[in-house]
Amino acid sequence: MRILVVGGAGYVGSHCLRHLISNHNDVWVYDNLSQGHAAAVPEGRLIVGDLLDTGKLIETMKQHDIEAVMHFAAKALVGESVVRPDIYYKTNVTGTLSLLDAMVASGVKKIVFSSTCAVFGNVQPPITEDLPKNPINPYGFTKLVIEHALADYAAAFQLEAAALRYFNACGAASDGSIGEDHDPESHLIPIVLQVALGQRPHVQIYGTDYPTLDGSCVRDYIHVEDLADAHLRVLSHLKPGRLVHYNLGTGVGVSVREVIEAARRVTGHPIPVIESDRRPGDPAVLMGDPTKALKELGWSAKFKAIEPVIKSAWAWHQAHPSGFQK
Ligand SMILES: NC(=O)c1ccc[n+]([C@@H]2O[C@H](COP(=O)([O-])OP(=O)(O)OC[C@H]3O[C@@H](n4cnc5c(N)ncnc54)[C@H](O)[C@@H]3O)[C@@H](O)[C@H]2O)c1
Repeated sequence: MRILVVGGAGYVGSHCLRHLISNHNDVWVYDNLSQGHAAAVPEGRLIVGDLLDTGKLIETMKQHDIEAVMHFAAKALVGESVVRPDIYYKTNVTGTLSLLDAMVASGVKKIVFSSTCAVFGNVQPPITEDLPKNPINPYGFTKLVIEHALADYAAAFQLEAAALRYFNACGAASDGSIGEDHDPESHLIPIVLQVALGQRPHVQIYGTDYPTLDGSCVRDYIHVEDLADAHLRVLSHLKPGRLVHYNLGTGVGVSVREVIEAARRVTGHPIPVIESDRRPGDPAVLMGDPTKALKELGWSAKFKAIEPVIKSAWAWHQAHPSGFQK
């Protein structure tokens, strides 16, 4: 299939891109490189452009006779979205509407959208697809707005859409060639590994009095290669005129302290911690229920334990201590 991977120079997008290519798809990346890395995209496959440039999107889709879009491009820092909602609504909402308009204008019907467990807000885990959606920050709201827009565009223009709600994406390519390189880095595993590399003095634990087994927050860590597998599978389960939703997690919760302990075992580094107060808006436990994805897509996470996930990320960080920068 001829697929346009929008935001494909970023972390999750670049891993999906490789999986699509190894499964014989003809893939192009459209990315403004605001966060992504040209080095994460195979030579000759990158089109540098912005989501807001509807004309360039139309031209790209027509030129490459695109059949499906995978849409990873977004601003995705919860804290930043609270202080700069303007940027989040512009990129995530206006930008995505521009992409949808370009699809309608070019006759591209299939779209797979990177949504997030942040659309749910504070709900009792395990989180199934049909639980109420009450996001507690602008980032989560922008993603929920687009889920609604996708359902409406699908119904009106016979699009075939999927919203894949990831829990915490993590890990790196099994061959060590690409991995996570965000600036600034806000995700726990790369931060812990930067401590092991001597690039940070310690890792901070925000909140040690949560009602969890060890008092720290519990999250569901889903490997990027498992996410890539789900993206490919969902392409053959799209339905004309409809939006389908899947929650993509392992169904297993891992605490912040457990991640740090596992990283100590993997790296052999003591990884000092500083314990501080809770951050506003952090739920105690976020954990997905992957039953629907298993039943309908035949998908389940291959990486269920946290140690192999950290091993894959550690291999990338050790080989690329400055990320994609030489
Ligand atoms: N990383 C996670 O844990 C996680 C969890 C849930 C959902 N998500 C969602 O998955 C998607 C990918 O996340 P990621 O961690 O790979 O992010 P990322 O920042 O690494 O990748 C996003 C890519 O989009 C590009 N981009 C941003 N704005 C653009 C614009 N206006 N025009 C064109 N390109 C633009 C960036 O340059 C980057 O390459 C995002 O939509 C995010 O909301 C991520």
